[in-house]
Amino acid sequence: MRSKLARFAENTERNNLIEPGKPIFATIQGDWSNYFGNDHPIILELGCGHGEYTTGLAALYPNKNFVGVDVKGARIWKGSRDAEVNQLTNAAFLRIRILQLENSFANQEASGIWITFPDPRPKAKDEKRRLTSPRFLDMYRKILKPDSWVHLKTDNQALFEYTLEVLEERTDISDLVFTDNLYNSGLYEPEQQIETTFEQKFAQRGIPIKYLRFRFC
Ligand SMILES: C[S@@+](CC[C@H](N)C(=O)[O-])C[C@H]1O[C@@H](n2cnc3c(N)ncnc32)[C@H](O)[C@@H]1O
Repeated sequence: MRSKLARFAENTERNNLIEPGKPIFATIQGDWSNYFGNDHPIILELGCGHGEYTTGLAALYPNKNFVGVDVKGARIWKGSRDAEVNQLTNAAFLRIRILQLENSFANQEASGIWITFPDPRPKAKDEKRRLTSPRFLDMYRKILKPDSWVHLKTDNQALFEYTLEVLEERTDISDLVFTDNLYNSGLYEPEQQIETTFEQKFAQRGIPIKYLRFRFC
C-alpha cells in the first residue's frame, strides 16, 4: 500500500483531482462545465472518502458529472485513481473542507448532493459540524439549482433522527422520503445499492442502513 506522502505526491499529478496549490483550484468556482467540457448536471458527494458514490454514479450516468469532496487527500487519492483506471471522465475530486464549498461552487452550479456516512459528531458542542446541520443545509441550498435532490445515507440512528428534526423545522423542504432500514425498503434502487467503504463495515456488523432524500423548494 502506498504511503500517505506517496499518495499526496500522486495527487499533485492527477488531472481529475483539484486541490489547493493547483492553478485550477483558484478558478474552478463557476467554471465546472468548462472543466468537464459539457453542460451536464453536476452532482456532489460530500465527505466522499474513497469516493465510491462519485465513481459508482459516474459509471451509472455517463451524461452527468460527479465531484467527490473530502478534506483527506489520502482517501480521495483512491477515488481519483479508480476514476482514471475506469476512464470515468465525468468524475472528479475536490480536496477542501465542506465549509468552504461556496468558494468552489457558484450559486446554483450543482444539481444534486449525496452525503455518504458523514461523521455523526454526537457531542452537543459539535452540532454545528454535522453535515446536516442548518448552516450546512443553507449552504447546500445556495449552490444547488432549484428542485435538486439531497440524499443522506448513514448507519447512525442519532444523526438520522437529528437530520429529520432539522428538516421538519424548515419550510423550504419538499418530497422528503426516508427509511431506517434501506435494504428492506422500496427505496433500494440501483443508486442506493452503491456501497461505500464505511457502509460495508457497518452492514457486515448487521447495522441497518438509514436513508433519506429531499429537495429544496
Ligand atoms: C465516516 S467517513 C465516510 C467516508 C465515505 N463517505 C464512506 O462512506 O466510506 C467521513 C468522511 O468525511 C470527511 N469529512 C468529514 N468532515 C468533513 C469536512 N468538514 N470537510 C471535508 N471532509 C470531511 C472525512 O475526511 C471522511 O473521509
